[in-house]
Amino acid sequence: MTANHQQPEVNIGLVGHVDHGKTTLVQALSGEWTDQHSEEMKRGISIRLGYADSTFRRRPDVDAPDCYTVANEVDGVETEHVRTVSFVDAPGHETLMATMLSGASIMDGAVLVVGANEDVPQAQTEEHLMALDIIGIENVVIAQNKIDLVDSGQARENYEQIQEFVEGTVAEDAPVVPISAEQEINIDVLIDAIEETIPTPERDPEADPRLLVARSFDINRPGTTFDTLTGGVIGGSLTQGTLDVDTDIEIRPGREDDGDYDPVATTVRSLQAGGSTVDSATPGGLIGVGTGLDPSLTKGDGLAGQVAGPGDSLPPVHDSFTMDVELLDRVVSDDDDEIEPISTNEPLMLTVGTATTVGSVTSARDEEAEVTLQRPVCAEAGAKIAISRRVGARWRLIGVGTLE
Ligand code: GTP
Repeated sequence: MTANHQQPEVNIGLVGHVDHGKTTLVQALSGEWTDQHSEEMKRGISIRLGYADSTFRRRPDVDAPDCYTVANEVDGVETEHVRTVSFVDAPGHETLMATMLSGASIMDGAVLVVGANEDVPQAQTEEHLMALDIIGIENVVIAQNKIDLVDSGQARENYEQIQEFVEGTVAEDAPVVPISAEQEINIDVLIDAIEETIPTPERDPEADPRLLVARSFDINRPGTTFDTLTGGVIGGSLTQGTLDVDTDIEIRPGREDDGDYDPVATTVRSLQAGGSTVDSATPGGLIGVGTGLDPSLTKGDGLAGQVAGPGDSLPPVHDSFTMDVELLDRVVSDDDDEIEPISTNEPLMLTVGTATTVGSVTSARDEEAEVTLQRPVCAEAGAKIAISRRVGARWRLIGVGTLE
């Protein structure tokens, strides 16, 4: 195993309405297809957060933005490494808002993909932007995609609609880059805008390692015999600290046993970062962690939403909590439907870190609510909570909470 000098250092979300081209853009930027699951392939939508790493490179002999590329060589000229980033591809379908929200908790910045061939905003363009606003993701680049499908007049009109739509939001000053993800047009200008707008945040590599688990897998093929089974794999974002192979970690809240949760302890057996196997992972991008866990525990995202790190350093686990509440003015994309205050006994969908759980409100006051959770969460006081309410047949984002 060798040290990897190209570990991802920043997580960038790809957000936006269904079919506007997020997955195609990740592919153009990384050469990988994030829709890895056959069911997703079949349905053609990103069901779970997909992720892929991309290394931005530059030609030494050309100025920005034309210098940027993801290729190792352009016209016979070898390119230089600029930065490796992890892309989190959030699903755009309205029923998958919970998945988008849990992805948002690990994003350091976001690219909002807007189809140039449709009116702005489409429902999840608006809902995703609101989520970025609520979670406090301020570094946003707008990719005006599918520019190959419109003429210059339509492109301008769509651009003006985008400008009007982002007024007063976190993306007010975001650069808007016209691109075609499919035809790979203007990808260099987009990389330039990302480099300018989404810096690598400062993180503490000396702190105790903490992994927010976004996915978990069983990588064994069906029929693998017990003696050749590989332990469960968890994937997520190392928000602080450095994680090494052979480190003992705990995962919380852990395993369910008759309604109670017990932390699970394991050892880091292998690490994947930036597409390579490494001995030590640095904070920033998304990493894969091979563990000694029974793969039945990690199968099918069984541990998604949990937090991993040295046992004595992890935040507490909550079965219930009190949160300060700030409601939005209106339900997003529901024609100015005002948001009623939270009421006692109502169910809310709460996204805390990468965890999504349903909570029942046991007490509601003006700007505070107490909730009892169906599934506990591991989180620190001060954590941001995205609050969604059932409106009609689906969950709608209604506000933000702060864990007391
Ligand atoms: P979800 O993950 O389901 O939210 O969709 P998505 O936003 O990831 O969209 P996806 O990348 O799957 O693209 C949807 C469709 O648009 C596919 O058929 C793509 O081939 C097509 N598409 C994406 N980008 C472009 C583009 O720049 N030009 C054209 N003409 N088609 C595009």
